[in-house]
Amino acid sequence: MSILVTGGAGFIGSHFARMLVNQSASGGQTVVLDKLTYAGNMENLREITDDLHKSGYFKFYKGDICNRELVEHVVKEDAVDTIVNFAADSHVDRSIMDAGAFIDTDMKGVYVLLEVARNQGAKKFIQISTDEVYGAIPEGSFKETDPINPRNPYAASKAGGDRLAYSYWVTYGVPVIITRACNNYGTNQYPEKLVPLFITNAIENKKLPLYGDGMQVRDWLHVKDHCEAIDFLIRHGKNGEVYNISANNEHTNIETTHLILDELKKPHSLIEHVLDREGHDRRYSLDSTKIRQLGWQPKIKYEEGIRSTVRWYLKNEDWWRKIKSGEFLEYYKRQYEHRMVSKSAK
Ligand code: NAD
Ligand code: TYD
Repeated sequence: MSILVTGGAGFIGSHFARMLVNQSASGGQTVVLDKLTYAGNMENLREITDDLHKSGYFKFYKGDICNRELVEHVVKEDAVDTIVNFAADSHVDRSIMDAGAFIDTDMKGVYVLLEVARNQGAKKFIQISTDEVYGAIPEGSFKETDPINPRNPYAASKAGGDRLAYSYWVTYGVPVIITRACNNYGTNQYPEKLVPLFITNAIENKKLPLYGDGMQVRDWLHVKDHCEAIDFLIRHGKNGEVYNISANNEHTNIETTHLILDELKKPHSLIEHVLDREGHDRRYSLDSTKIRQLGWQPKIKYEEGIRSTVRWYLKNEDWWRKIKSGEFLEYYKRQYEHRMVSKSAK
Protein backbone atom coordinates (compact mmCIF):
# COMPACT_ATOMS: atom_id res chain seq x y z
CA MET A 1 0.00 0.00 0.00
CA SER A 2 1.09 3.59 -0.64
CA ILE A 3 -0.92 5.85 1.65
CA LEU A 4 -1.21 9.62 1.29
CA VAL A 5 -1.90 11.24 4.67
CA THR A 6 -3.03 14.82 4.09
CA GLY A 7 -2.72 17.08 7.13
CA GLY A 8 -0.14 14.64 8.48
CA ALA A 9 1.78 17.32 10.40
CA GLY A 10 -1.26 18.15 12.53
CA PHE A 11 -2.49 16.49 15.71
CA ILE A 12 -4.34 13.37 14.54
CA GLY A 13 -2.62 13.08 11.15
CA SER A 14 0.85 12.93 12.73
CA HIS A 15 -0.27 10.18 15.13
CA PHE A 16 -1.65 8.30 12.15
CA ALA A 17 1.54 8.77 10.07
CA ARG A 18 3.66 7.53 13.02
CA MET A 19 1.45 4.50 13.40
CA LEU A 20 1.74 3.68 9.67
CA VAL A 21 5.52 4.07 9.60
CA ASN A 22 5.88 1.84 12.66
CA GLN A 23 3.74 -0.79 10.94
CA SER A 24 5.41 -0.54 7.56
CA ALA A 25 7.79 -3.46 7.95
CA SER A 26 5.56 -5.11 5.36
CA GLY A 27 6.76 -2.58 2.76
CA GLY A 28 3.99 0.02 2.91
CA GLN A 29 4.71 3.63 1.95
CA THR A 30 3.63 6.66 3.96
CA VAL A 31 3.44 10.02 2.20
CA VAL A 32 2.43 13.21 4.00
CA LEU A 33 1.12 16.34 2.28
CA ASP A 34 0.63 19.29 4.61
CA LYS A 35 0.39 23.04 4.07
CA LEU A 36 1.97 23.69 7.48
CA THR A 37 -0.62 26.24 8.55
CA TYR A 38 -0.39 27.58 12.12
CA ALA A 39 -1.57 24.10 13.24
CA GLY A 40 0.94 22.08 11.22
CA ASN A 41 4.19 21.30 12.99
CA MET A 42 7.18 19.34 11.68
CA GLU A 43 8.12 18.60 15.31
CA ASN A 44 5.12 16.25 15.32
CA LEU A 45 6.88 14.14 12.69
CA ARG A 46 10.35 14.29 14.24
CA GLU A 47 10.23 10.75 15.57
CA ILE A 48 9.83 9.61 11.95
CA THR A 49 12.18 12.04 10.23
CA ASP A 50 14.97 11.53 12.82
CA ASP A 51 14.67 7.80 12.57
CA LEU A 52 14.34 7.25 8.84
CA HIS A 53 17.13 4.73 8.57
CA LYS A 54 15.19 2.46 10.92
CA SER A 55 11.67 3.20 9.74
CA GLY A 56 9.87 2.26 6.58
CA TYR A 57 9.32 4.47 3.51
CA PHE A 58 8.32 8.03 4.40
CA LYS A 59 8.10 11.18 2.32
CA PHE A 60 6.92 14.68 3.20
CA TYR A 61 5.54 17.32 0.82
CA LYS A 62 4.75 20.85 1.96
CA GLY A 63 1.71 22.06 0.04
CA ASP A 64 -1.98 22.78 -0.20
CA ILE A 65 -4.63 20.13 -0.92
CA CYS A 66 -6.41 22.79 -3.00
CA ASN A 67 -3.46 22.72 -5.46
CA ARG A 68 -4.60 20.15 -8.01
CA GLU A 69 -1.31 19.99 -9.94
CA LEU A 70 0.61 19.28 -6.76
CA VAL A 71 -1.85 16.65 -5.52
CA GLU A 72 -1.74 14.93 -8.93
CA HIS A 73 2.05 15.02 -8.89
CA VAL A 74 2.25 13.49 -5.39
CA VAL A 75 -0.23 10.73 -6.22
CA LYS A 76 1.61 9.77 -9.43
CA GLU A 77 5.16 10.16 -8.07
CA ASP A 78 4.55 7.90 -5.08
CA ALA A 79 2.03 5.56 -6.74
CA VAL A 80 -0.49 6.45 -4.03
CA ASP A 81 -3.41 3.99 -3.88
CA THR A 82 -5.03 5.13 -0.63
CA ILE A 83 -5.82 8.69 0.48
CA VAL A 84 -6.66 9.50 4.10
CA ASN A 85 -7.76 13.12 4.29
CA PHE A 86 -7.08 14.74 7.67
CA ALA A 87 -6.22 18.16 6.19
CA ALA A 88 -8.63 20.74 7.56
CA ASP A 89 -8.97 23.96 9.36
CA SER A 90 -10.22 22.41 12.55
CA HIS A 91 -11.02 24.89 15.32
CA VAL A 92 -14.63 25.99 15.86
CA ASP A 93 -13.72 29.31 17.51
CA ARG A 94 -11.50 30.31 14.58
CA SER A 95 -14.29 29.42 12.14
CA ILE A 96 -16.59 31.76 14.05
CA MET A 97 -14.01 34.57 13.64
CA ASP A 98 -13.51 33.90 9.91
CA ALA A 99 -14.83 30.96 7.91
CA GLY A 100 -12.79 31.62 4.74
CA ALA A 101 -9.99 29.05 5.19
CA PHE A 102 -12.57 26.47 6.30
CA ILE A 103 -14.52 26.80 3.06
CA ASP A 104 -11.28 26.51 1.04
CA THR A 105 -9.71 23.51 2.75
CA ASP A 106 -12.65 21.59 4.21
CA MET A 107 -14.78 21.86 1.06
CA LYS A 108 -12.74 22.83 -2.02
CA GLY A 109 -9.71 20.85 -0.85
CA VAL A 110 -11.87 17.74 -0.51
CA TYR A 111 -13.16 18.32 -4.06
CA VAL A 112 -9.59 18.48 -5.43
CA LEU A 113 -8.56 15.29 -3.61
CA LEU A 114 -11.68 13.47 -4.81
CA GLU A 115 -11.09 14.55 -8.42
CA VAL A 116 -7.53 13.27 -8.30
CA ALA A 117 -8.66 10.03 -6.63
CA ARG A 118 -11.25 9.58 -9.36
CA ASN A 119 -8.87 10.28 -12.24
CA GLN A 120 -5.99 8.22 -10.84
CA GLY A 121 -8.19 5.28 -9.85
CA ALA A 122 -7.46 5.34 -6.09
CA LYS A 123 -8.35 2.08 -4.32
CA LYS A 124 -9.54 3.78 -1.11
CA PHE A 125 -10.44 7.29 -0.01
CA ILE A 126 -11.03 7.89 3.68
CA GLN A 127 -12.66 11.23 4.43
CA ILE A 128 -12.06 12.15 8.08
CA SER A 129 -15.29 13.90 8.98
CA THR A 130 -16.54 14.70 12.48
CA ASP A 131 -19.45 14.14 14.87
CA GLU A 132 -20.03 17.90 14.69
CA VAL A 133 -21.82 17.47 11.34
CA TYR A 134 -24.81 16.07 13.28
CA GLY A 135 -25.13 19.16 15.45
CA ALA A 136 -26.07 18.97 19.14
CA ILE A 137 -28.22 16.26 20.76
CA PRO A 138 -29.97 16.86 24.12
CA GLU A 139 -30.34 13.14 24.90
CA GLY A 140 -29.58 9.80 23.25
CA SER A 141 -26.78 9.33 20.71
CA PHE A 142 -26.46 9.96 16.99
CA LYS A 143 -26.47 7.00 14.61
CA GLU A 144 -24.96 7.15 11.11
CA THR A 145 -28.48 7.19 9.65
CA ASP A 146 -29.50 10.36 11.53
CA PRO A 147 -29.81 13.57 9.51
CA ILE A 148 -26.94 16.03 9.66
CA ASN A 149 -27.51 19.51 11.07
CA PRO A 150 -24.17 21.37 11.38
CA ARG A 151 -24.48 24.53 13.48
CA ASN A 152 -21.18 26.40 13.18
CA PRO A 153 -19.01 27.28 10.14
CA TYR A 154 -16.44 24.55 10.92
CA ALA A 155 -19.12 21.88 11.21
CA ALA A 156 -20.88 23.14 8.07
CA SER A 157 -17.70 23.10 5.98
CA LYS A 158 -16.90 19.58 7.22
CA ALA A 159 -20.46 18.51 6.35
CA GLY A 160 -19.85 19.84 2.82
CA GLY A 161 -16.70 17.71 2.48
CA ASP A 162 -18.44 14.70 4.04
CA ARG A 163 -21.39 14.77 1.62
CA LEU A 164 -19.22 15.63 -1.41
CA ALA A 165 -17.14 12.52 -0.67
CA TYR A 166 -20.32 10.44 -0.48
CA SER A 167 -21.52 11.89 -3.80
CA TYR A 168 -18.27 10.76 -5.49
CA TRP A 169 -19.00 7.19 -4.40
CA VAL A 170 -22.60 7.30 -5.64
CA THR A 171 -21.85 9.18 -8.86
CA TYR A 172 -18.41 7.95 -9.94
CA GLY A 173 -17.80 4.87 -7.80
CA VAL A 174 -14.79 6.41 -6.01
CA PRO A 175 -14.27 3.95 -3.10
CA VAL A 176 -15.00 6.40 -0.30
CA ILE A 177 -15.41 5.70 3.41
CA ILE A 178 -16.47 8.51 5.76
CA THR A 179 -15.54 8.54 9.44
CA ARG A 180 -17.20 10.71 12.08
CA ALA A 181 -15.27 10.69 15.33
CA CYS A 182 -16.01 12.56 18.52
CA ASN A 183 -13.61 14.94 20.35
CA ASN A 184 -10.02 13.66 20.34
CA TYR A 185 -7.41 14.26 23.01
CA GLY A 186 -3.82 13.12 23.45
CA THR A 187 -0.25 14.29 22.90
CA ASN A 188 0.80 16.86 20.27
CA GLN A 189 -2.57 18.64 20.14
CA TYR A 190 -2.29 22.33 19.29
CA PRO A 191 -3.04 24.26 22.50
CA GLU A 192 -6.13 26.09 21.21
CA LYS A 193 -8.44 23.14 21.95
CA LEU A 194 -9.92 22.60 25.43
CA VAL A 195 -7.63 19.87 26.81
CA PRO A 196 -4.19 21.19 25.76
CA LEU A 197 -5.18 24.83 26.35
CA PHE A 198 -6.30 24.12 29.90
CA ILE A 199 -3.32 21.88 30.70
CA THR A 200 -0.78 24.45 29.48
CA ASN A 201 -2.59 27.44 31.02
CA ALA A 202 -2.71 25.61 34.36
CA ILE A 203 1.01 24.79 34.18
CA GLU A 204 1.57 28.53 33.60
CA ASN A 205 -0.80 29.39 36.50
CA LYS A 206 -3.05 31.25 34.05
CA LYS A 207 -6.84 31.31 34.19
CA LEU A 208 -8.76 28.53 32.40
CA PRO A 209 -11.50 30.25 30.34
CA LEU A 210 -14.47 27.90 30.67
CA TYR A 211 -17.30 28.91 28.32
CA GLY A 212 -20.68 29.61 29.96
CA ASP A 213 -21.68 27.27 32.79
CA GLY A 214 -19.18 24.56 31.75
CA MET A 215 -21.98 21.97 31.70
CA GLN A 216 -21.63 21.29 27.97
CA VAL A 217 -20.98 17.61 27.27
CA ARG A 218 -18.28 16.22 24.98
CA ASP A 219 -17.68 12.57 24.10
CA TRP A 220 -13.89 11.97 24.47
CA LEU A 221 -11.75 9.63 22.35
CA HIS A 222 -8.01 9.09 22.72
CA VAL A 223 -6.19 9.92 19.48
CA LYS A 224 -4.47 6.50 19.43
CA ASP A 225 -7.83 4.71 19.58
CA HIS A 226 -9.05 6.97 16.76
CA CYS A 227 -6.02 6.14 14.57
CA GLU A 228 -6.49 2.41 15.15
CA ALA A 229 -10.13 2.74 14.13
CA ILE A 230 -9.18 4.45 10.86
CA ASP A 231 -6.57 1.79 10.10
CA PHE A 232 -9.21 -0.86 10.89
CA LEU A 233 -11.70 0.75 8.47
CA ILE A 234 -9.13 0.85 5.64
CA ARG A 235 -9.07 -2.95 5.96
CA HIS A 236 -12.62 -3.81 7.01
CA GLY A 237 -14.85 -0.82 6.20
CA LYS A 238 -17.38 -0.97 3.38
CA ASN A 239 -17.21 1.56 0.54
CA GLY A 240 -19.89 4.25 0.55
CA GLU A 241 -20.52 3.85 4.29
CA VAL A 242 -20.29 6.28 7.20
CA TYR A 243 -18.79 5.08 10.51
CA ASN A 244 -19.14 6.85 13.86
CA ILE A 245 -16.08 6.43 16.10
CA SER A 246 -16.43 6.95 19.83
CA ALA A 247 -15.35 5.49 23.15
CA ASN A 248 -18.54 6.48 25.03
CA ASN A 249 -16.74 8.81 27.40
CA GLU A 250 -19.23 11.60 27.91
CA HIS A 251 -18.18 14.27 30.37
CA THR A 252 -19.12 17.85 31.10
CA ASN A 253 -16.38 20.36 30.38
CA ILE A 254 -16.17 21.16 34.06
CA GLU A 255 -15.47 17.48 34.87
CA THR A 256 -12.66 17.39 32.32
CA THR A 257 -11.28 20.66 33.72
CA HIS A 258 -11.30 19.29 37.30
CA LEU A 259 -9.52 16.11 36.20
CA ILE A 260 -6.76 18.19 34.56
CA LEU A 261 -6.35 20.52 37.57
CA ASP A 262 -6.33 17.62 40.04
CA GLU A 263 -3.66 15.75 38.08
CA LEU A 264 -1.53 18.93 38.09
CA LYS A 265 -2.34 19.59 41.77
CA LYS A 266 -3.52 23.08 40.83
CA PRO A 267 -6.45 24.91 42.53
CA HIS A 268 -9.94 24.94 41.01
CA SER A 269 -9.85 28.72 41.53
CA LEU A 270 -7.90 28.91 38.26
CA ILE A 271 -11.22 28.32 36.47
CA GLU A 272 -12.86 31.45 35.12
CA HIS A 273 -16.36 31.19 33.67
CA VAL A 274 -16.31 33.42 30.59
CA LEU A 275 -18.74 34.60 27.95
CA ASP A 276 -20.04 31.55 26.08
CA ARG A 277 -19.11 30.55 22.50
CA GLU A 278 -21.66 31.80 19.98
CA GLY A 279 -24.07 29.01 18.93
CA HIS A 280 -22.30 26.60 21.32
CA ASP A 281 -23.40 22.98 20.78
CA ARG A 282 -24.54 21.82 24.24
CA ARG A 283 -23.96 18.11 23.90
CA TYR A 284 -22.37 15.65 21.48
CA SER A 285 -22.92 11.92 21.73
CA LEU A 286 -22.25 9.14 19.24
CA ASP A 287 -23.54 5.61 18.88
CA SER A 288 -20.58 3.63 17.50
CA THR A 289 -22.27 0.21 17.39
CA LYS A 290 -21.65 -0.07 13.63
CA ILE A 291 -17.83 -0.08 13.77
CA ARG A 292 -17.84 -2.14 17.00
CA GLN A 293 -19.93 -4.84 15.31
CA LEU A 294 -17.18 -5.06 12.67
CA GLY A 295 -14.67 -5.78 15.44
CA TRP A 296 -13.03 -2.47 16.53
CA GLN A 297 -13.07 -1.30 20.10
CA PRO A 298 -11.28 1.47 22.00
CA LYS A 299 -8.61 0.56 24.56
CA ILE A 300 -7.76 3.73 26.46
CA LYS A 301 -9.82 4.73 29.49
CA TYR A 302 -10.71 8.43 29.72
CA GLU A 303 -9.26 9.17 33.20
CA GLU A 304 -5.96 7.41 32.47
CA GLY A 305 -5.80 8.91 28.96
CA ILE A 306 -6.25 12.46 30.29
CA ARG A 307 -3.70 11.87 33.08
CA SER A 308 -1.06 10.57 30.68
CA THR A 309 -1.76 13.50 28.34
CA VAL A 310 -1.19 15.92 31.24
CA ARG A 311 2.12 14.18 31.99
CA TRP A 312 3.20 14.52 28.32
CA TYR A 313 2.59 18.31 28.35
CA LEU A 314 4.55 18.54 31.62
CA LYS A 315 7.49 16.71 30.04
CA ASN A 316 7.32 18.49 26.68
CA GLU A 317 7.24 22.16 27.59
CA ASP A 318 9.60 22.95 24.67
CA TRP A 319 6.98 21.69 22.24
CA TRP A 320 4.12 23.92 23.42
CA ARG A 321 6.02 26.97 24.69
CA LYS A 322 7.31 27.57 21.15
CA ILE A 323 3.72 27.47 19.89
CA LYS A 324 2.28 29.69 22.64
CA SER A 325 3.96 32.77 21.24
CA GLY A 326 3.56 35.02 18.17
CA GLU A 327 0.41 34.15 16.18
CA PHE A 328 -1.02 32.15 19.08
CA LEU A 329 -0.88 35.13 21.47
CA GLU A 330 -2.62 37.38 18.96
CA TYR A 331 -5.33 34.77 18.48
CA TYR A 332 -5.66 34.27 22.25
CA LYS A 333 -6.13 37.96 22.89
CA ARG A 334 -8.70 38.28 20.12
CA GLN A 335 -10.64 35.21 21.28
CA TYR A 336 -10.56 35.70 25.05
CA GLU A 337 -9.81 39.26 26.11
CA HIS A 338 -13.38 40.52 25.81
CA ARG A 339 -14.77 37.33 27.39
CA MET A 340 -12.73 37.43 30.60
CA VAL A 341 -13.42 39.57 33.63
CA SER A 342 -9.91 39.10 35.01
CA LYS A 343 -8.31 40.37 31.78
CA SER A 344 -5.68 37.70 32.33
CA ALA A 345 -5.83 36.97 28.60
CA LYS A 346 -3.73 40.09 28.03
P1 NAD B 1 -5.13 20.02 13.24
O1 NAD B 1 -5.66 21.41 13.11
O2 NAD B 1 -4.27 19.67 14.40
O3 NAD B 1 -4.30 19.64 11.92
C1 NAD B 1 -4.73 19.98 10.63
C2 NAD B 1 -3.53 19.79 9.70
O4 NAD B 1 -3.97 20.08 8.36
C3 NAD B 1 -2.38 20.77 10.00
O5 NAD B 1 -1.14 20.09 9.97
C4 NAD B 1 -2.46 21.79 8.86
O6 NAD B 1 -1.21 22.35 8.52
C5 NAD B 1 -3.02 20.93 7.73
N1 NAD B 1 -3.73 21.72 6.72
C6 NAD B 1 -4.65 22.70 6.91
N2 NAD B 1 -5.06 23.21 5.73
C7 NAD B 1 -4.39 22.49 4.76
C8 NAD B 1 -4.41 22.53 3.34
N3 NAD B 1 -5.18 23.40 2.67
N4 NAD B 1 -3.63 21.67 2.67
C9 NAD B 1 -2.82 20.79 3.33
N5 NAD B 1 -2.76 20.72 4.68
C10 NAD B 1 -3.55 21.56 5.38
O7 NAD B 1 -6.42 19.09 13.16
P2 NAD B 1 -6.71 17.69 13.88
O8 NAD B 1 -7.32 17.95 15.19
O9 NAD B 1 -5.53 16.82 13.75
O10 NAD B 1 -7.88 17.15 12.94
C11 NAD B 1 -7.57 16.34 11.80
C12 NAD B 1 -8.86 15.96 11.10
O11 NAD B 1 -9.71 15.25 11.99
C13 NAD B 1 -9.68 17.16 10.62
O12 NAD B 1 -10.21 16.85 9.36
C14 NAD B 1 -10.77 17.30 11.66
O13 NAD B 1 -11.92 17.87 11.09
C15 NAD B 1 -10.98 15.85 12.04
N6 NAD B 1 -11.50 15.62 13.39
C16 NAD B 1 -10.86 16.17 14.47
C17 NAD B 1 -11.32 15.91 15.75
C18 NAD B 1 -10.63 16.48 16.96
O14 NAD B 1 -11.15 16.36 18.06
N7 NAD B 1 -9.47 17.09 16.84
C19 NAD B 1 -12.45 15.09 15.93
C20 NAD B 1 -13.08 14.54 14.80
C21 NAD B 1 -12.59 14.80 13.54
P1 TYD C 1 -12.89 22.36 21.65
O1 TYD C 1 -11.70 21.67 22.20
O2 TYD C 1 -12.73 23.67 20.97
O3 TYD C 1 -13.61 21.30 20.70
P2 TYD C 1 -15.11 21.35 20.04
O4 TYD C 1 -15.56 22.75 19.95
O5 TYD C 1 -14.81 20.80 18.70
O6 TYD C 1 -15.96 20.47 20.86
O7 TYD C 1 -13.94 22.56 22.83
C1 TYD C 1 -14.38 21.47 23.63
C2 TYD C 1 -15.41 22.01 24.60
O8 TYD C 1 -14.75 22.91 25.50
C3 TYD C 1 -16.50 22.82 23.93
O9 TYD C 1 -17.74 22.61 24.62
C4 TYD C 1 -16.06 24.26 24.11
C5 TYD C 1 -15.32 24.21 25.46
N1 TYD C 1 -14.22 25.20 25.59
C6 TYD C 1 -14.19 26.07 26.69
O10 TYD C 1 -15.07 26.03 27.58
N2 TYD C 1 -13.18 26.98 26.77
C7 TYD C 1 -12.21 27.07 25.82
O11 TYD C 1 -11.31 27.94 25.94
C8 TYD C 1 -12.23 26.15 24.70
C9 TYD C 1 -11.17 26.20 23.65
C10 TYD C 1 -13.26 25.23 24.64
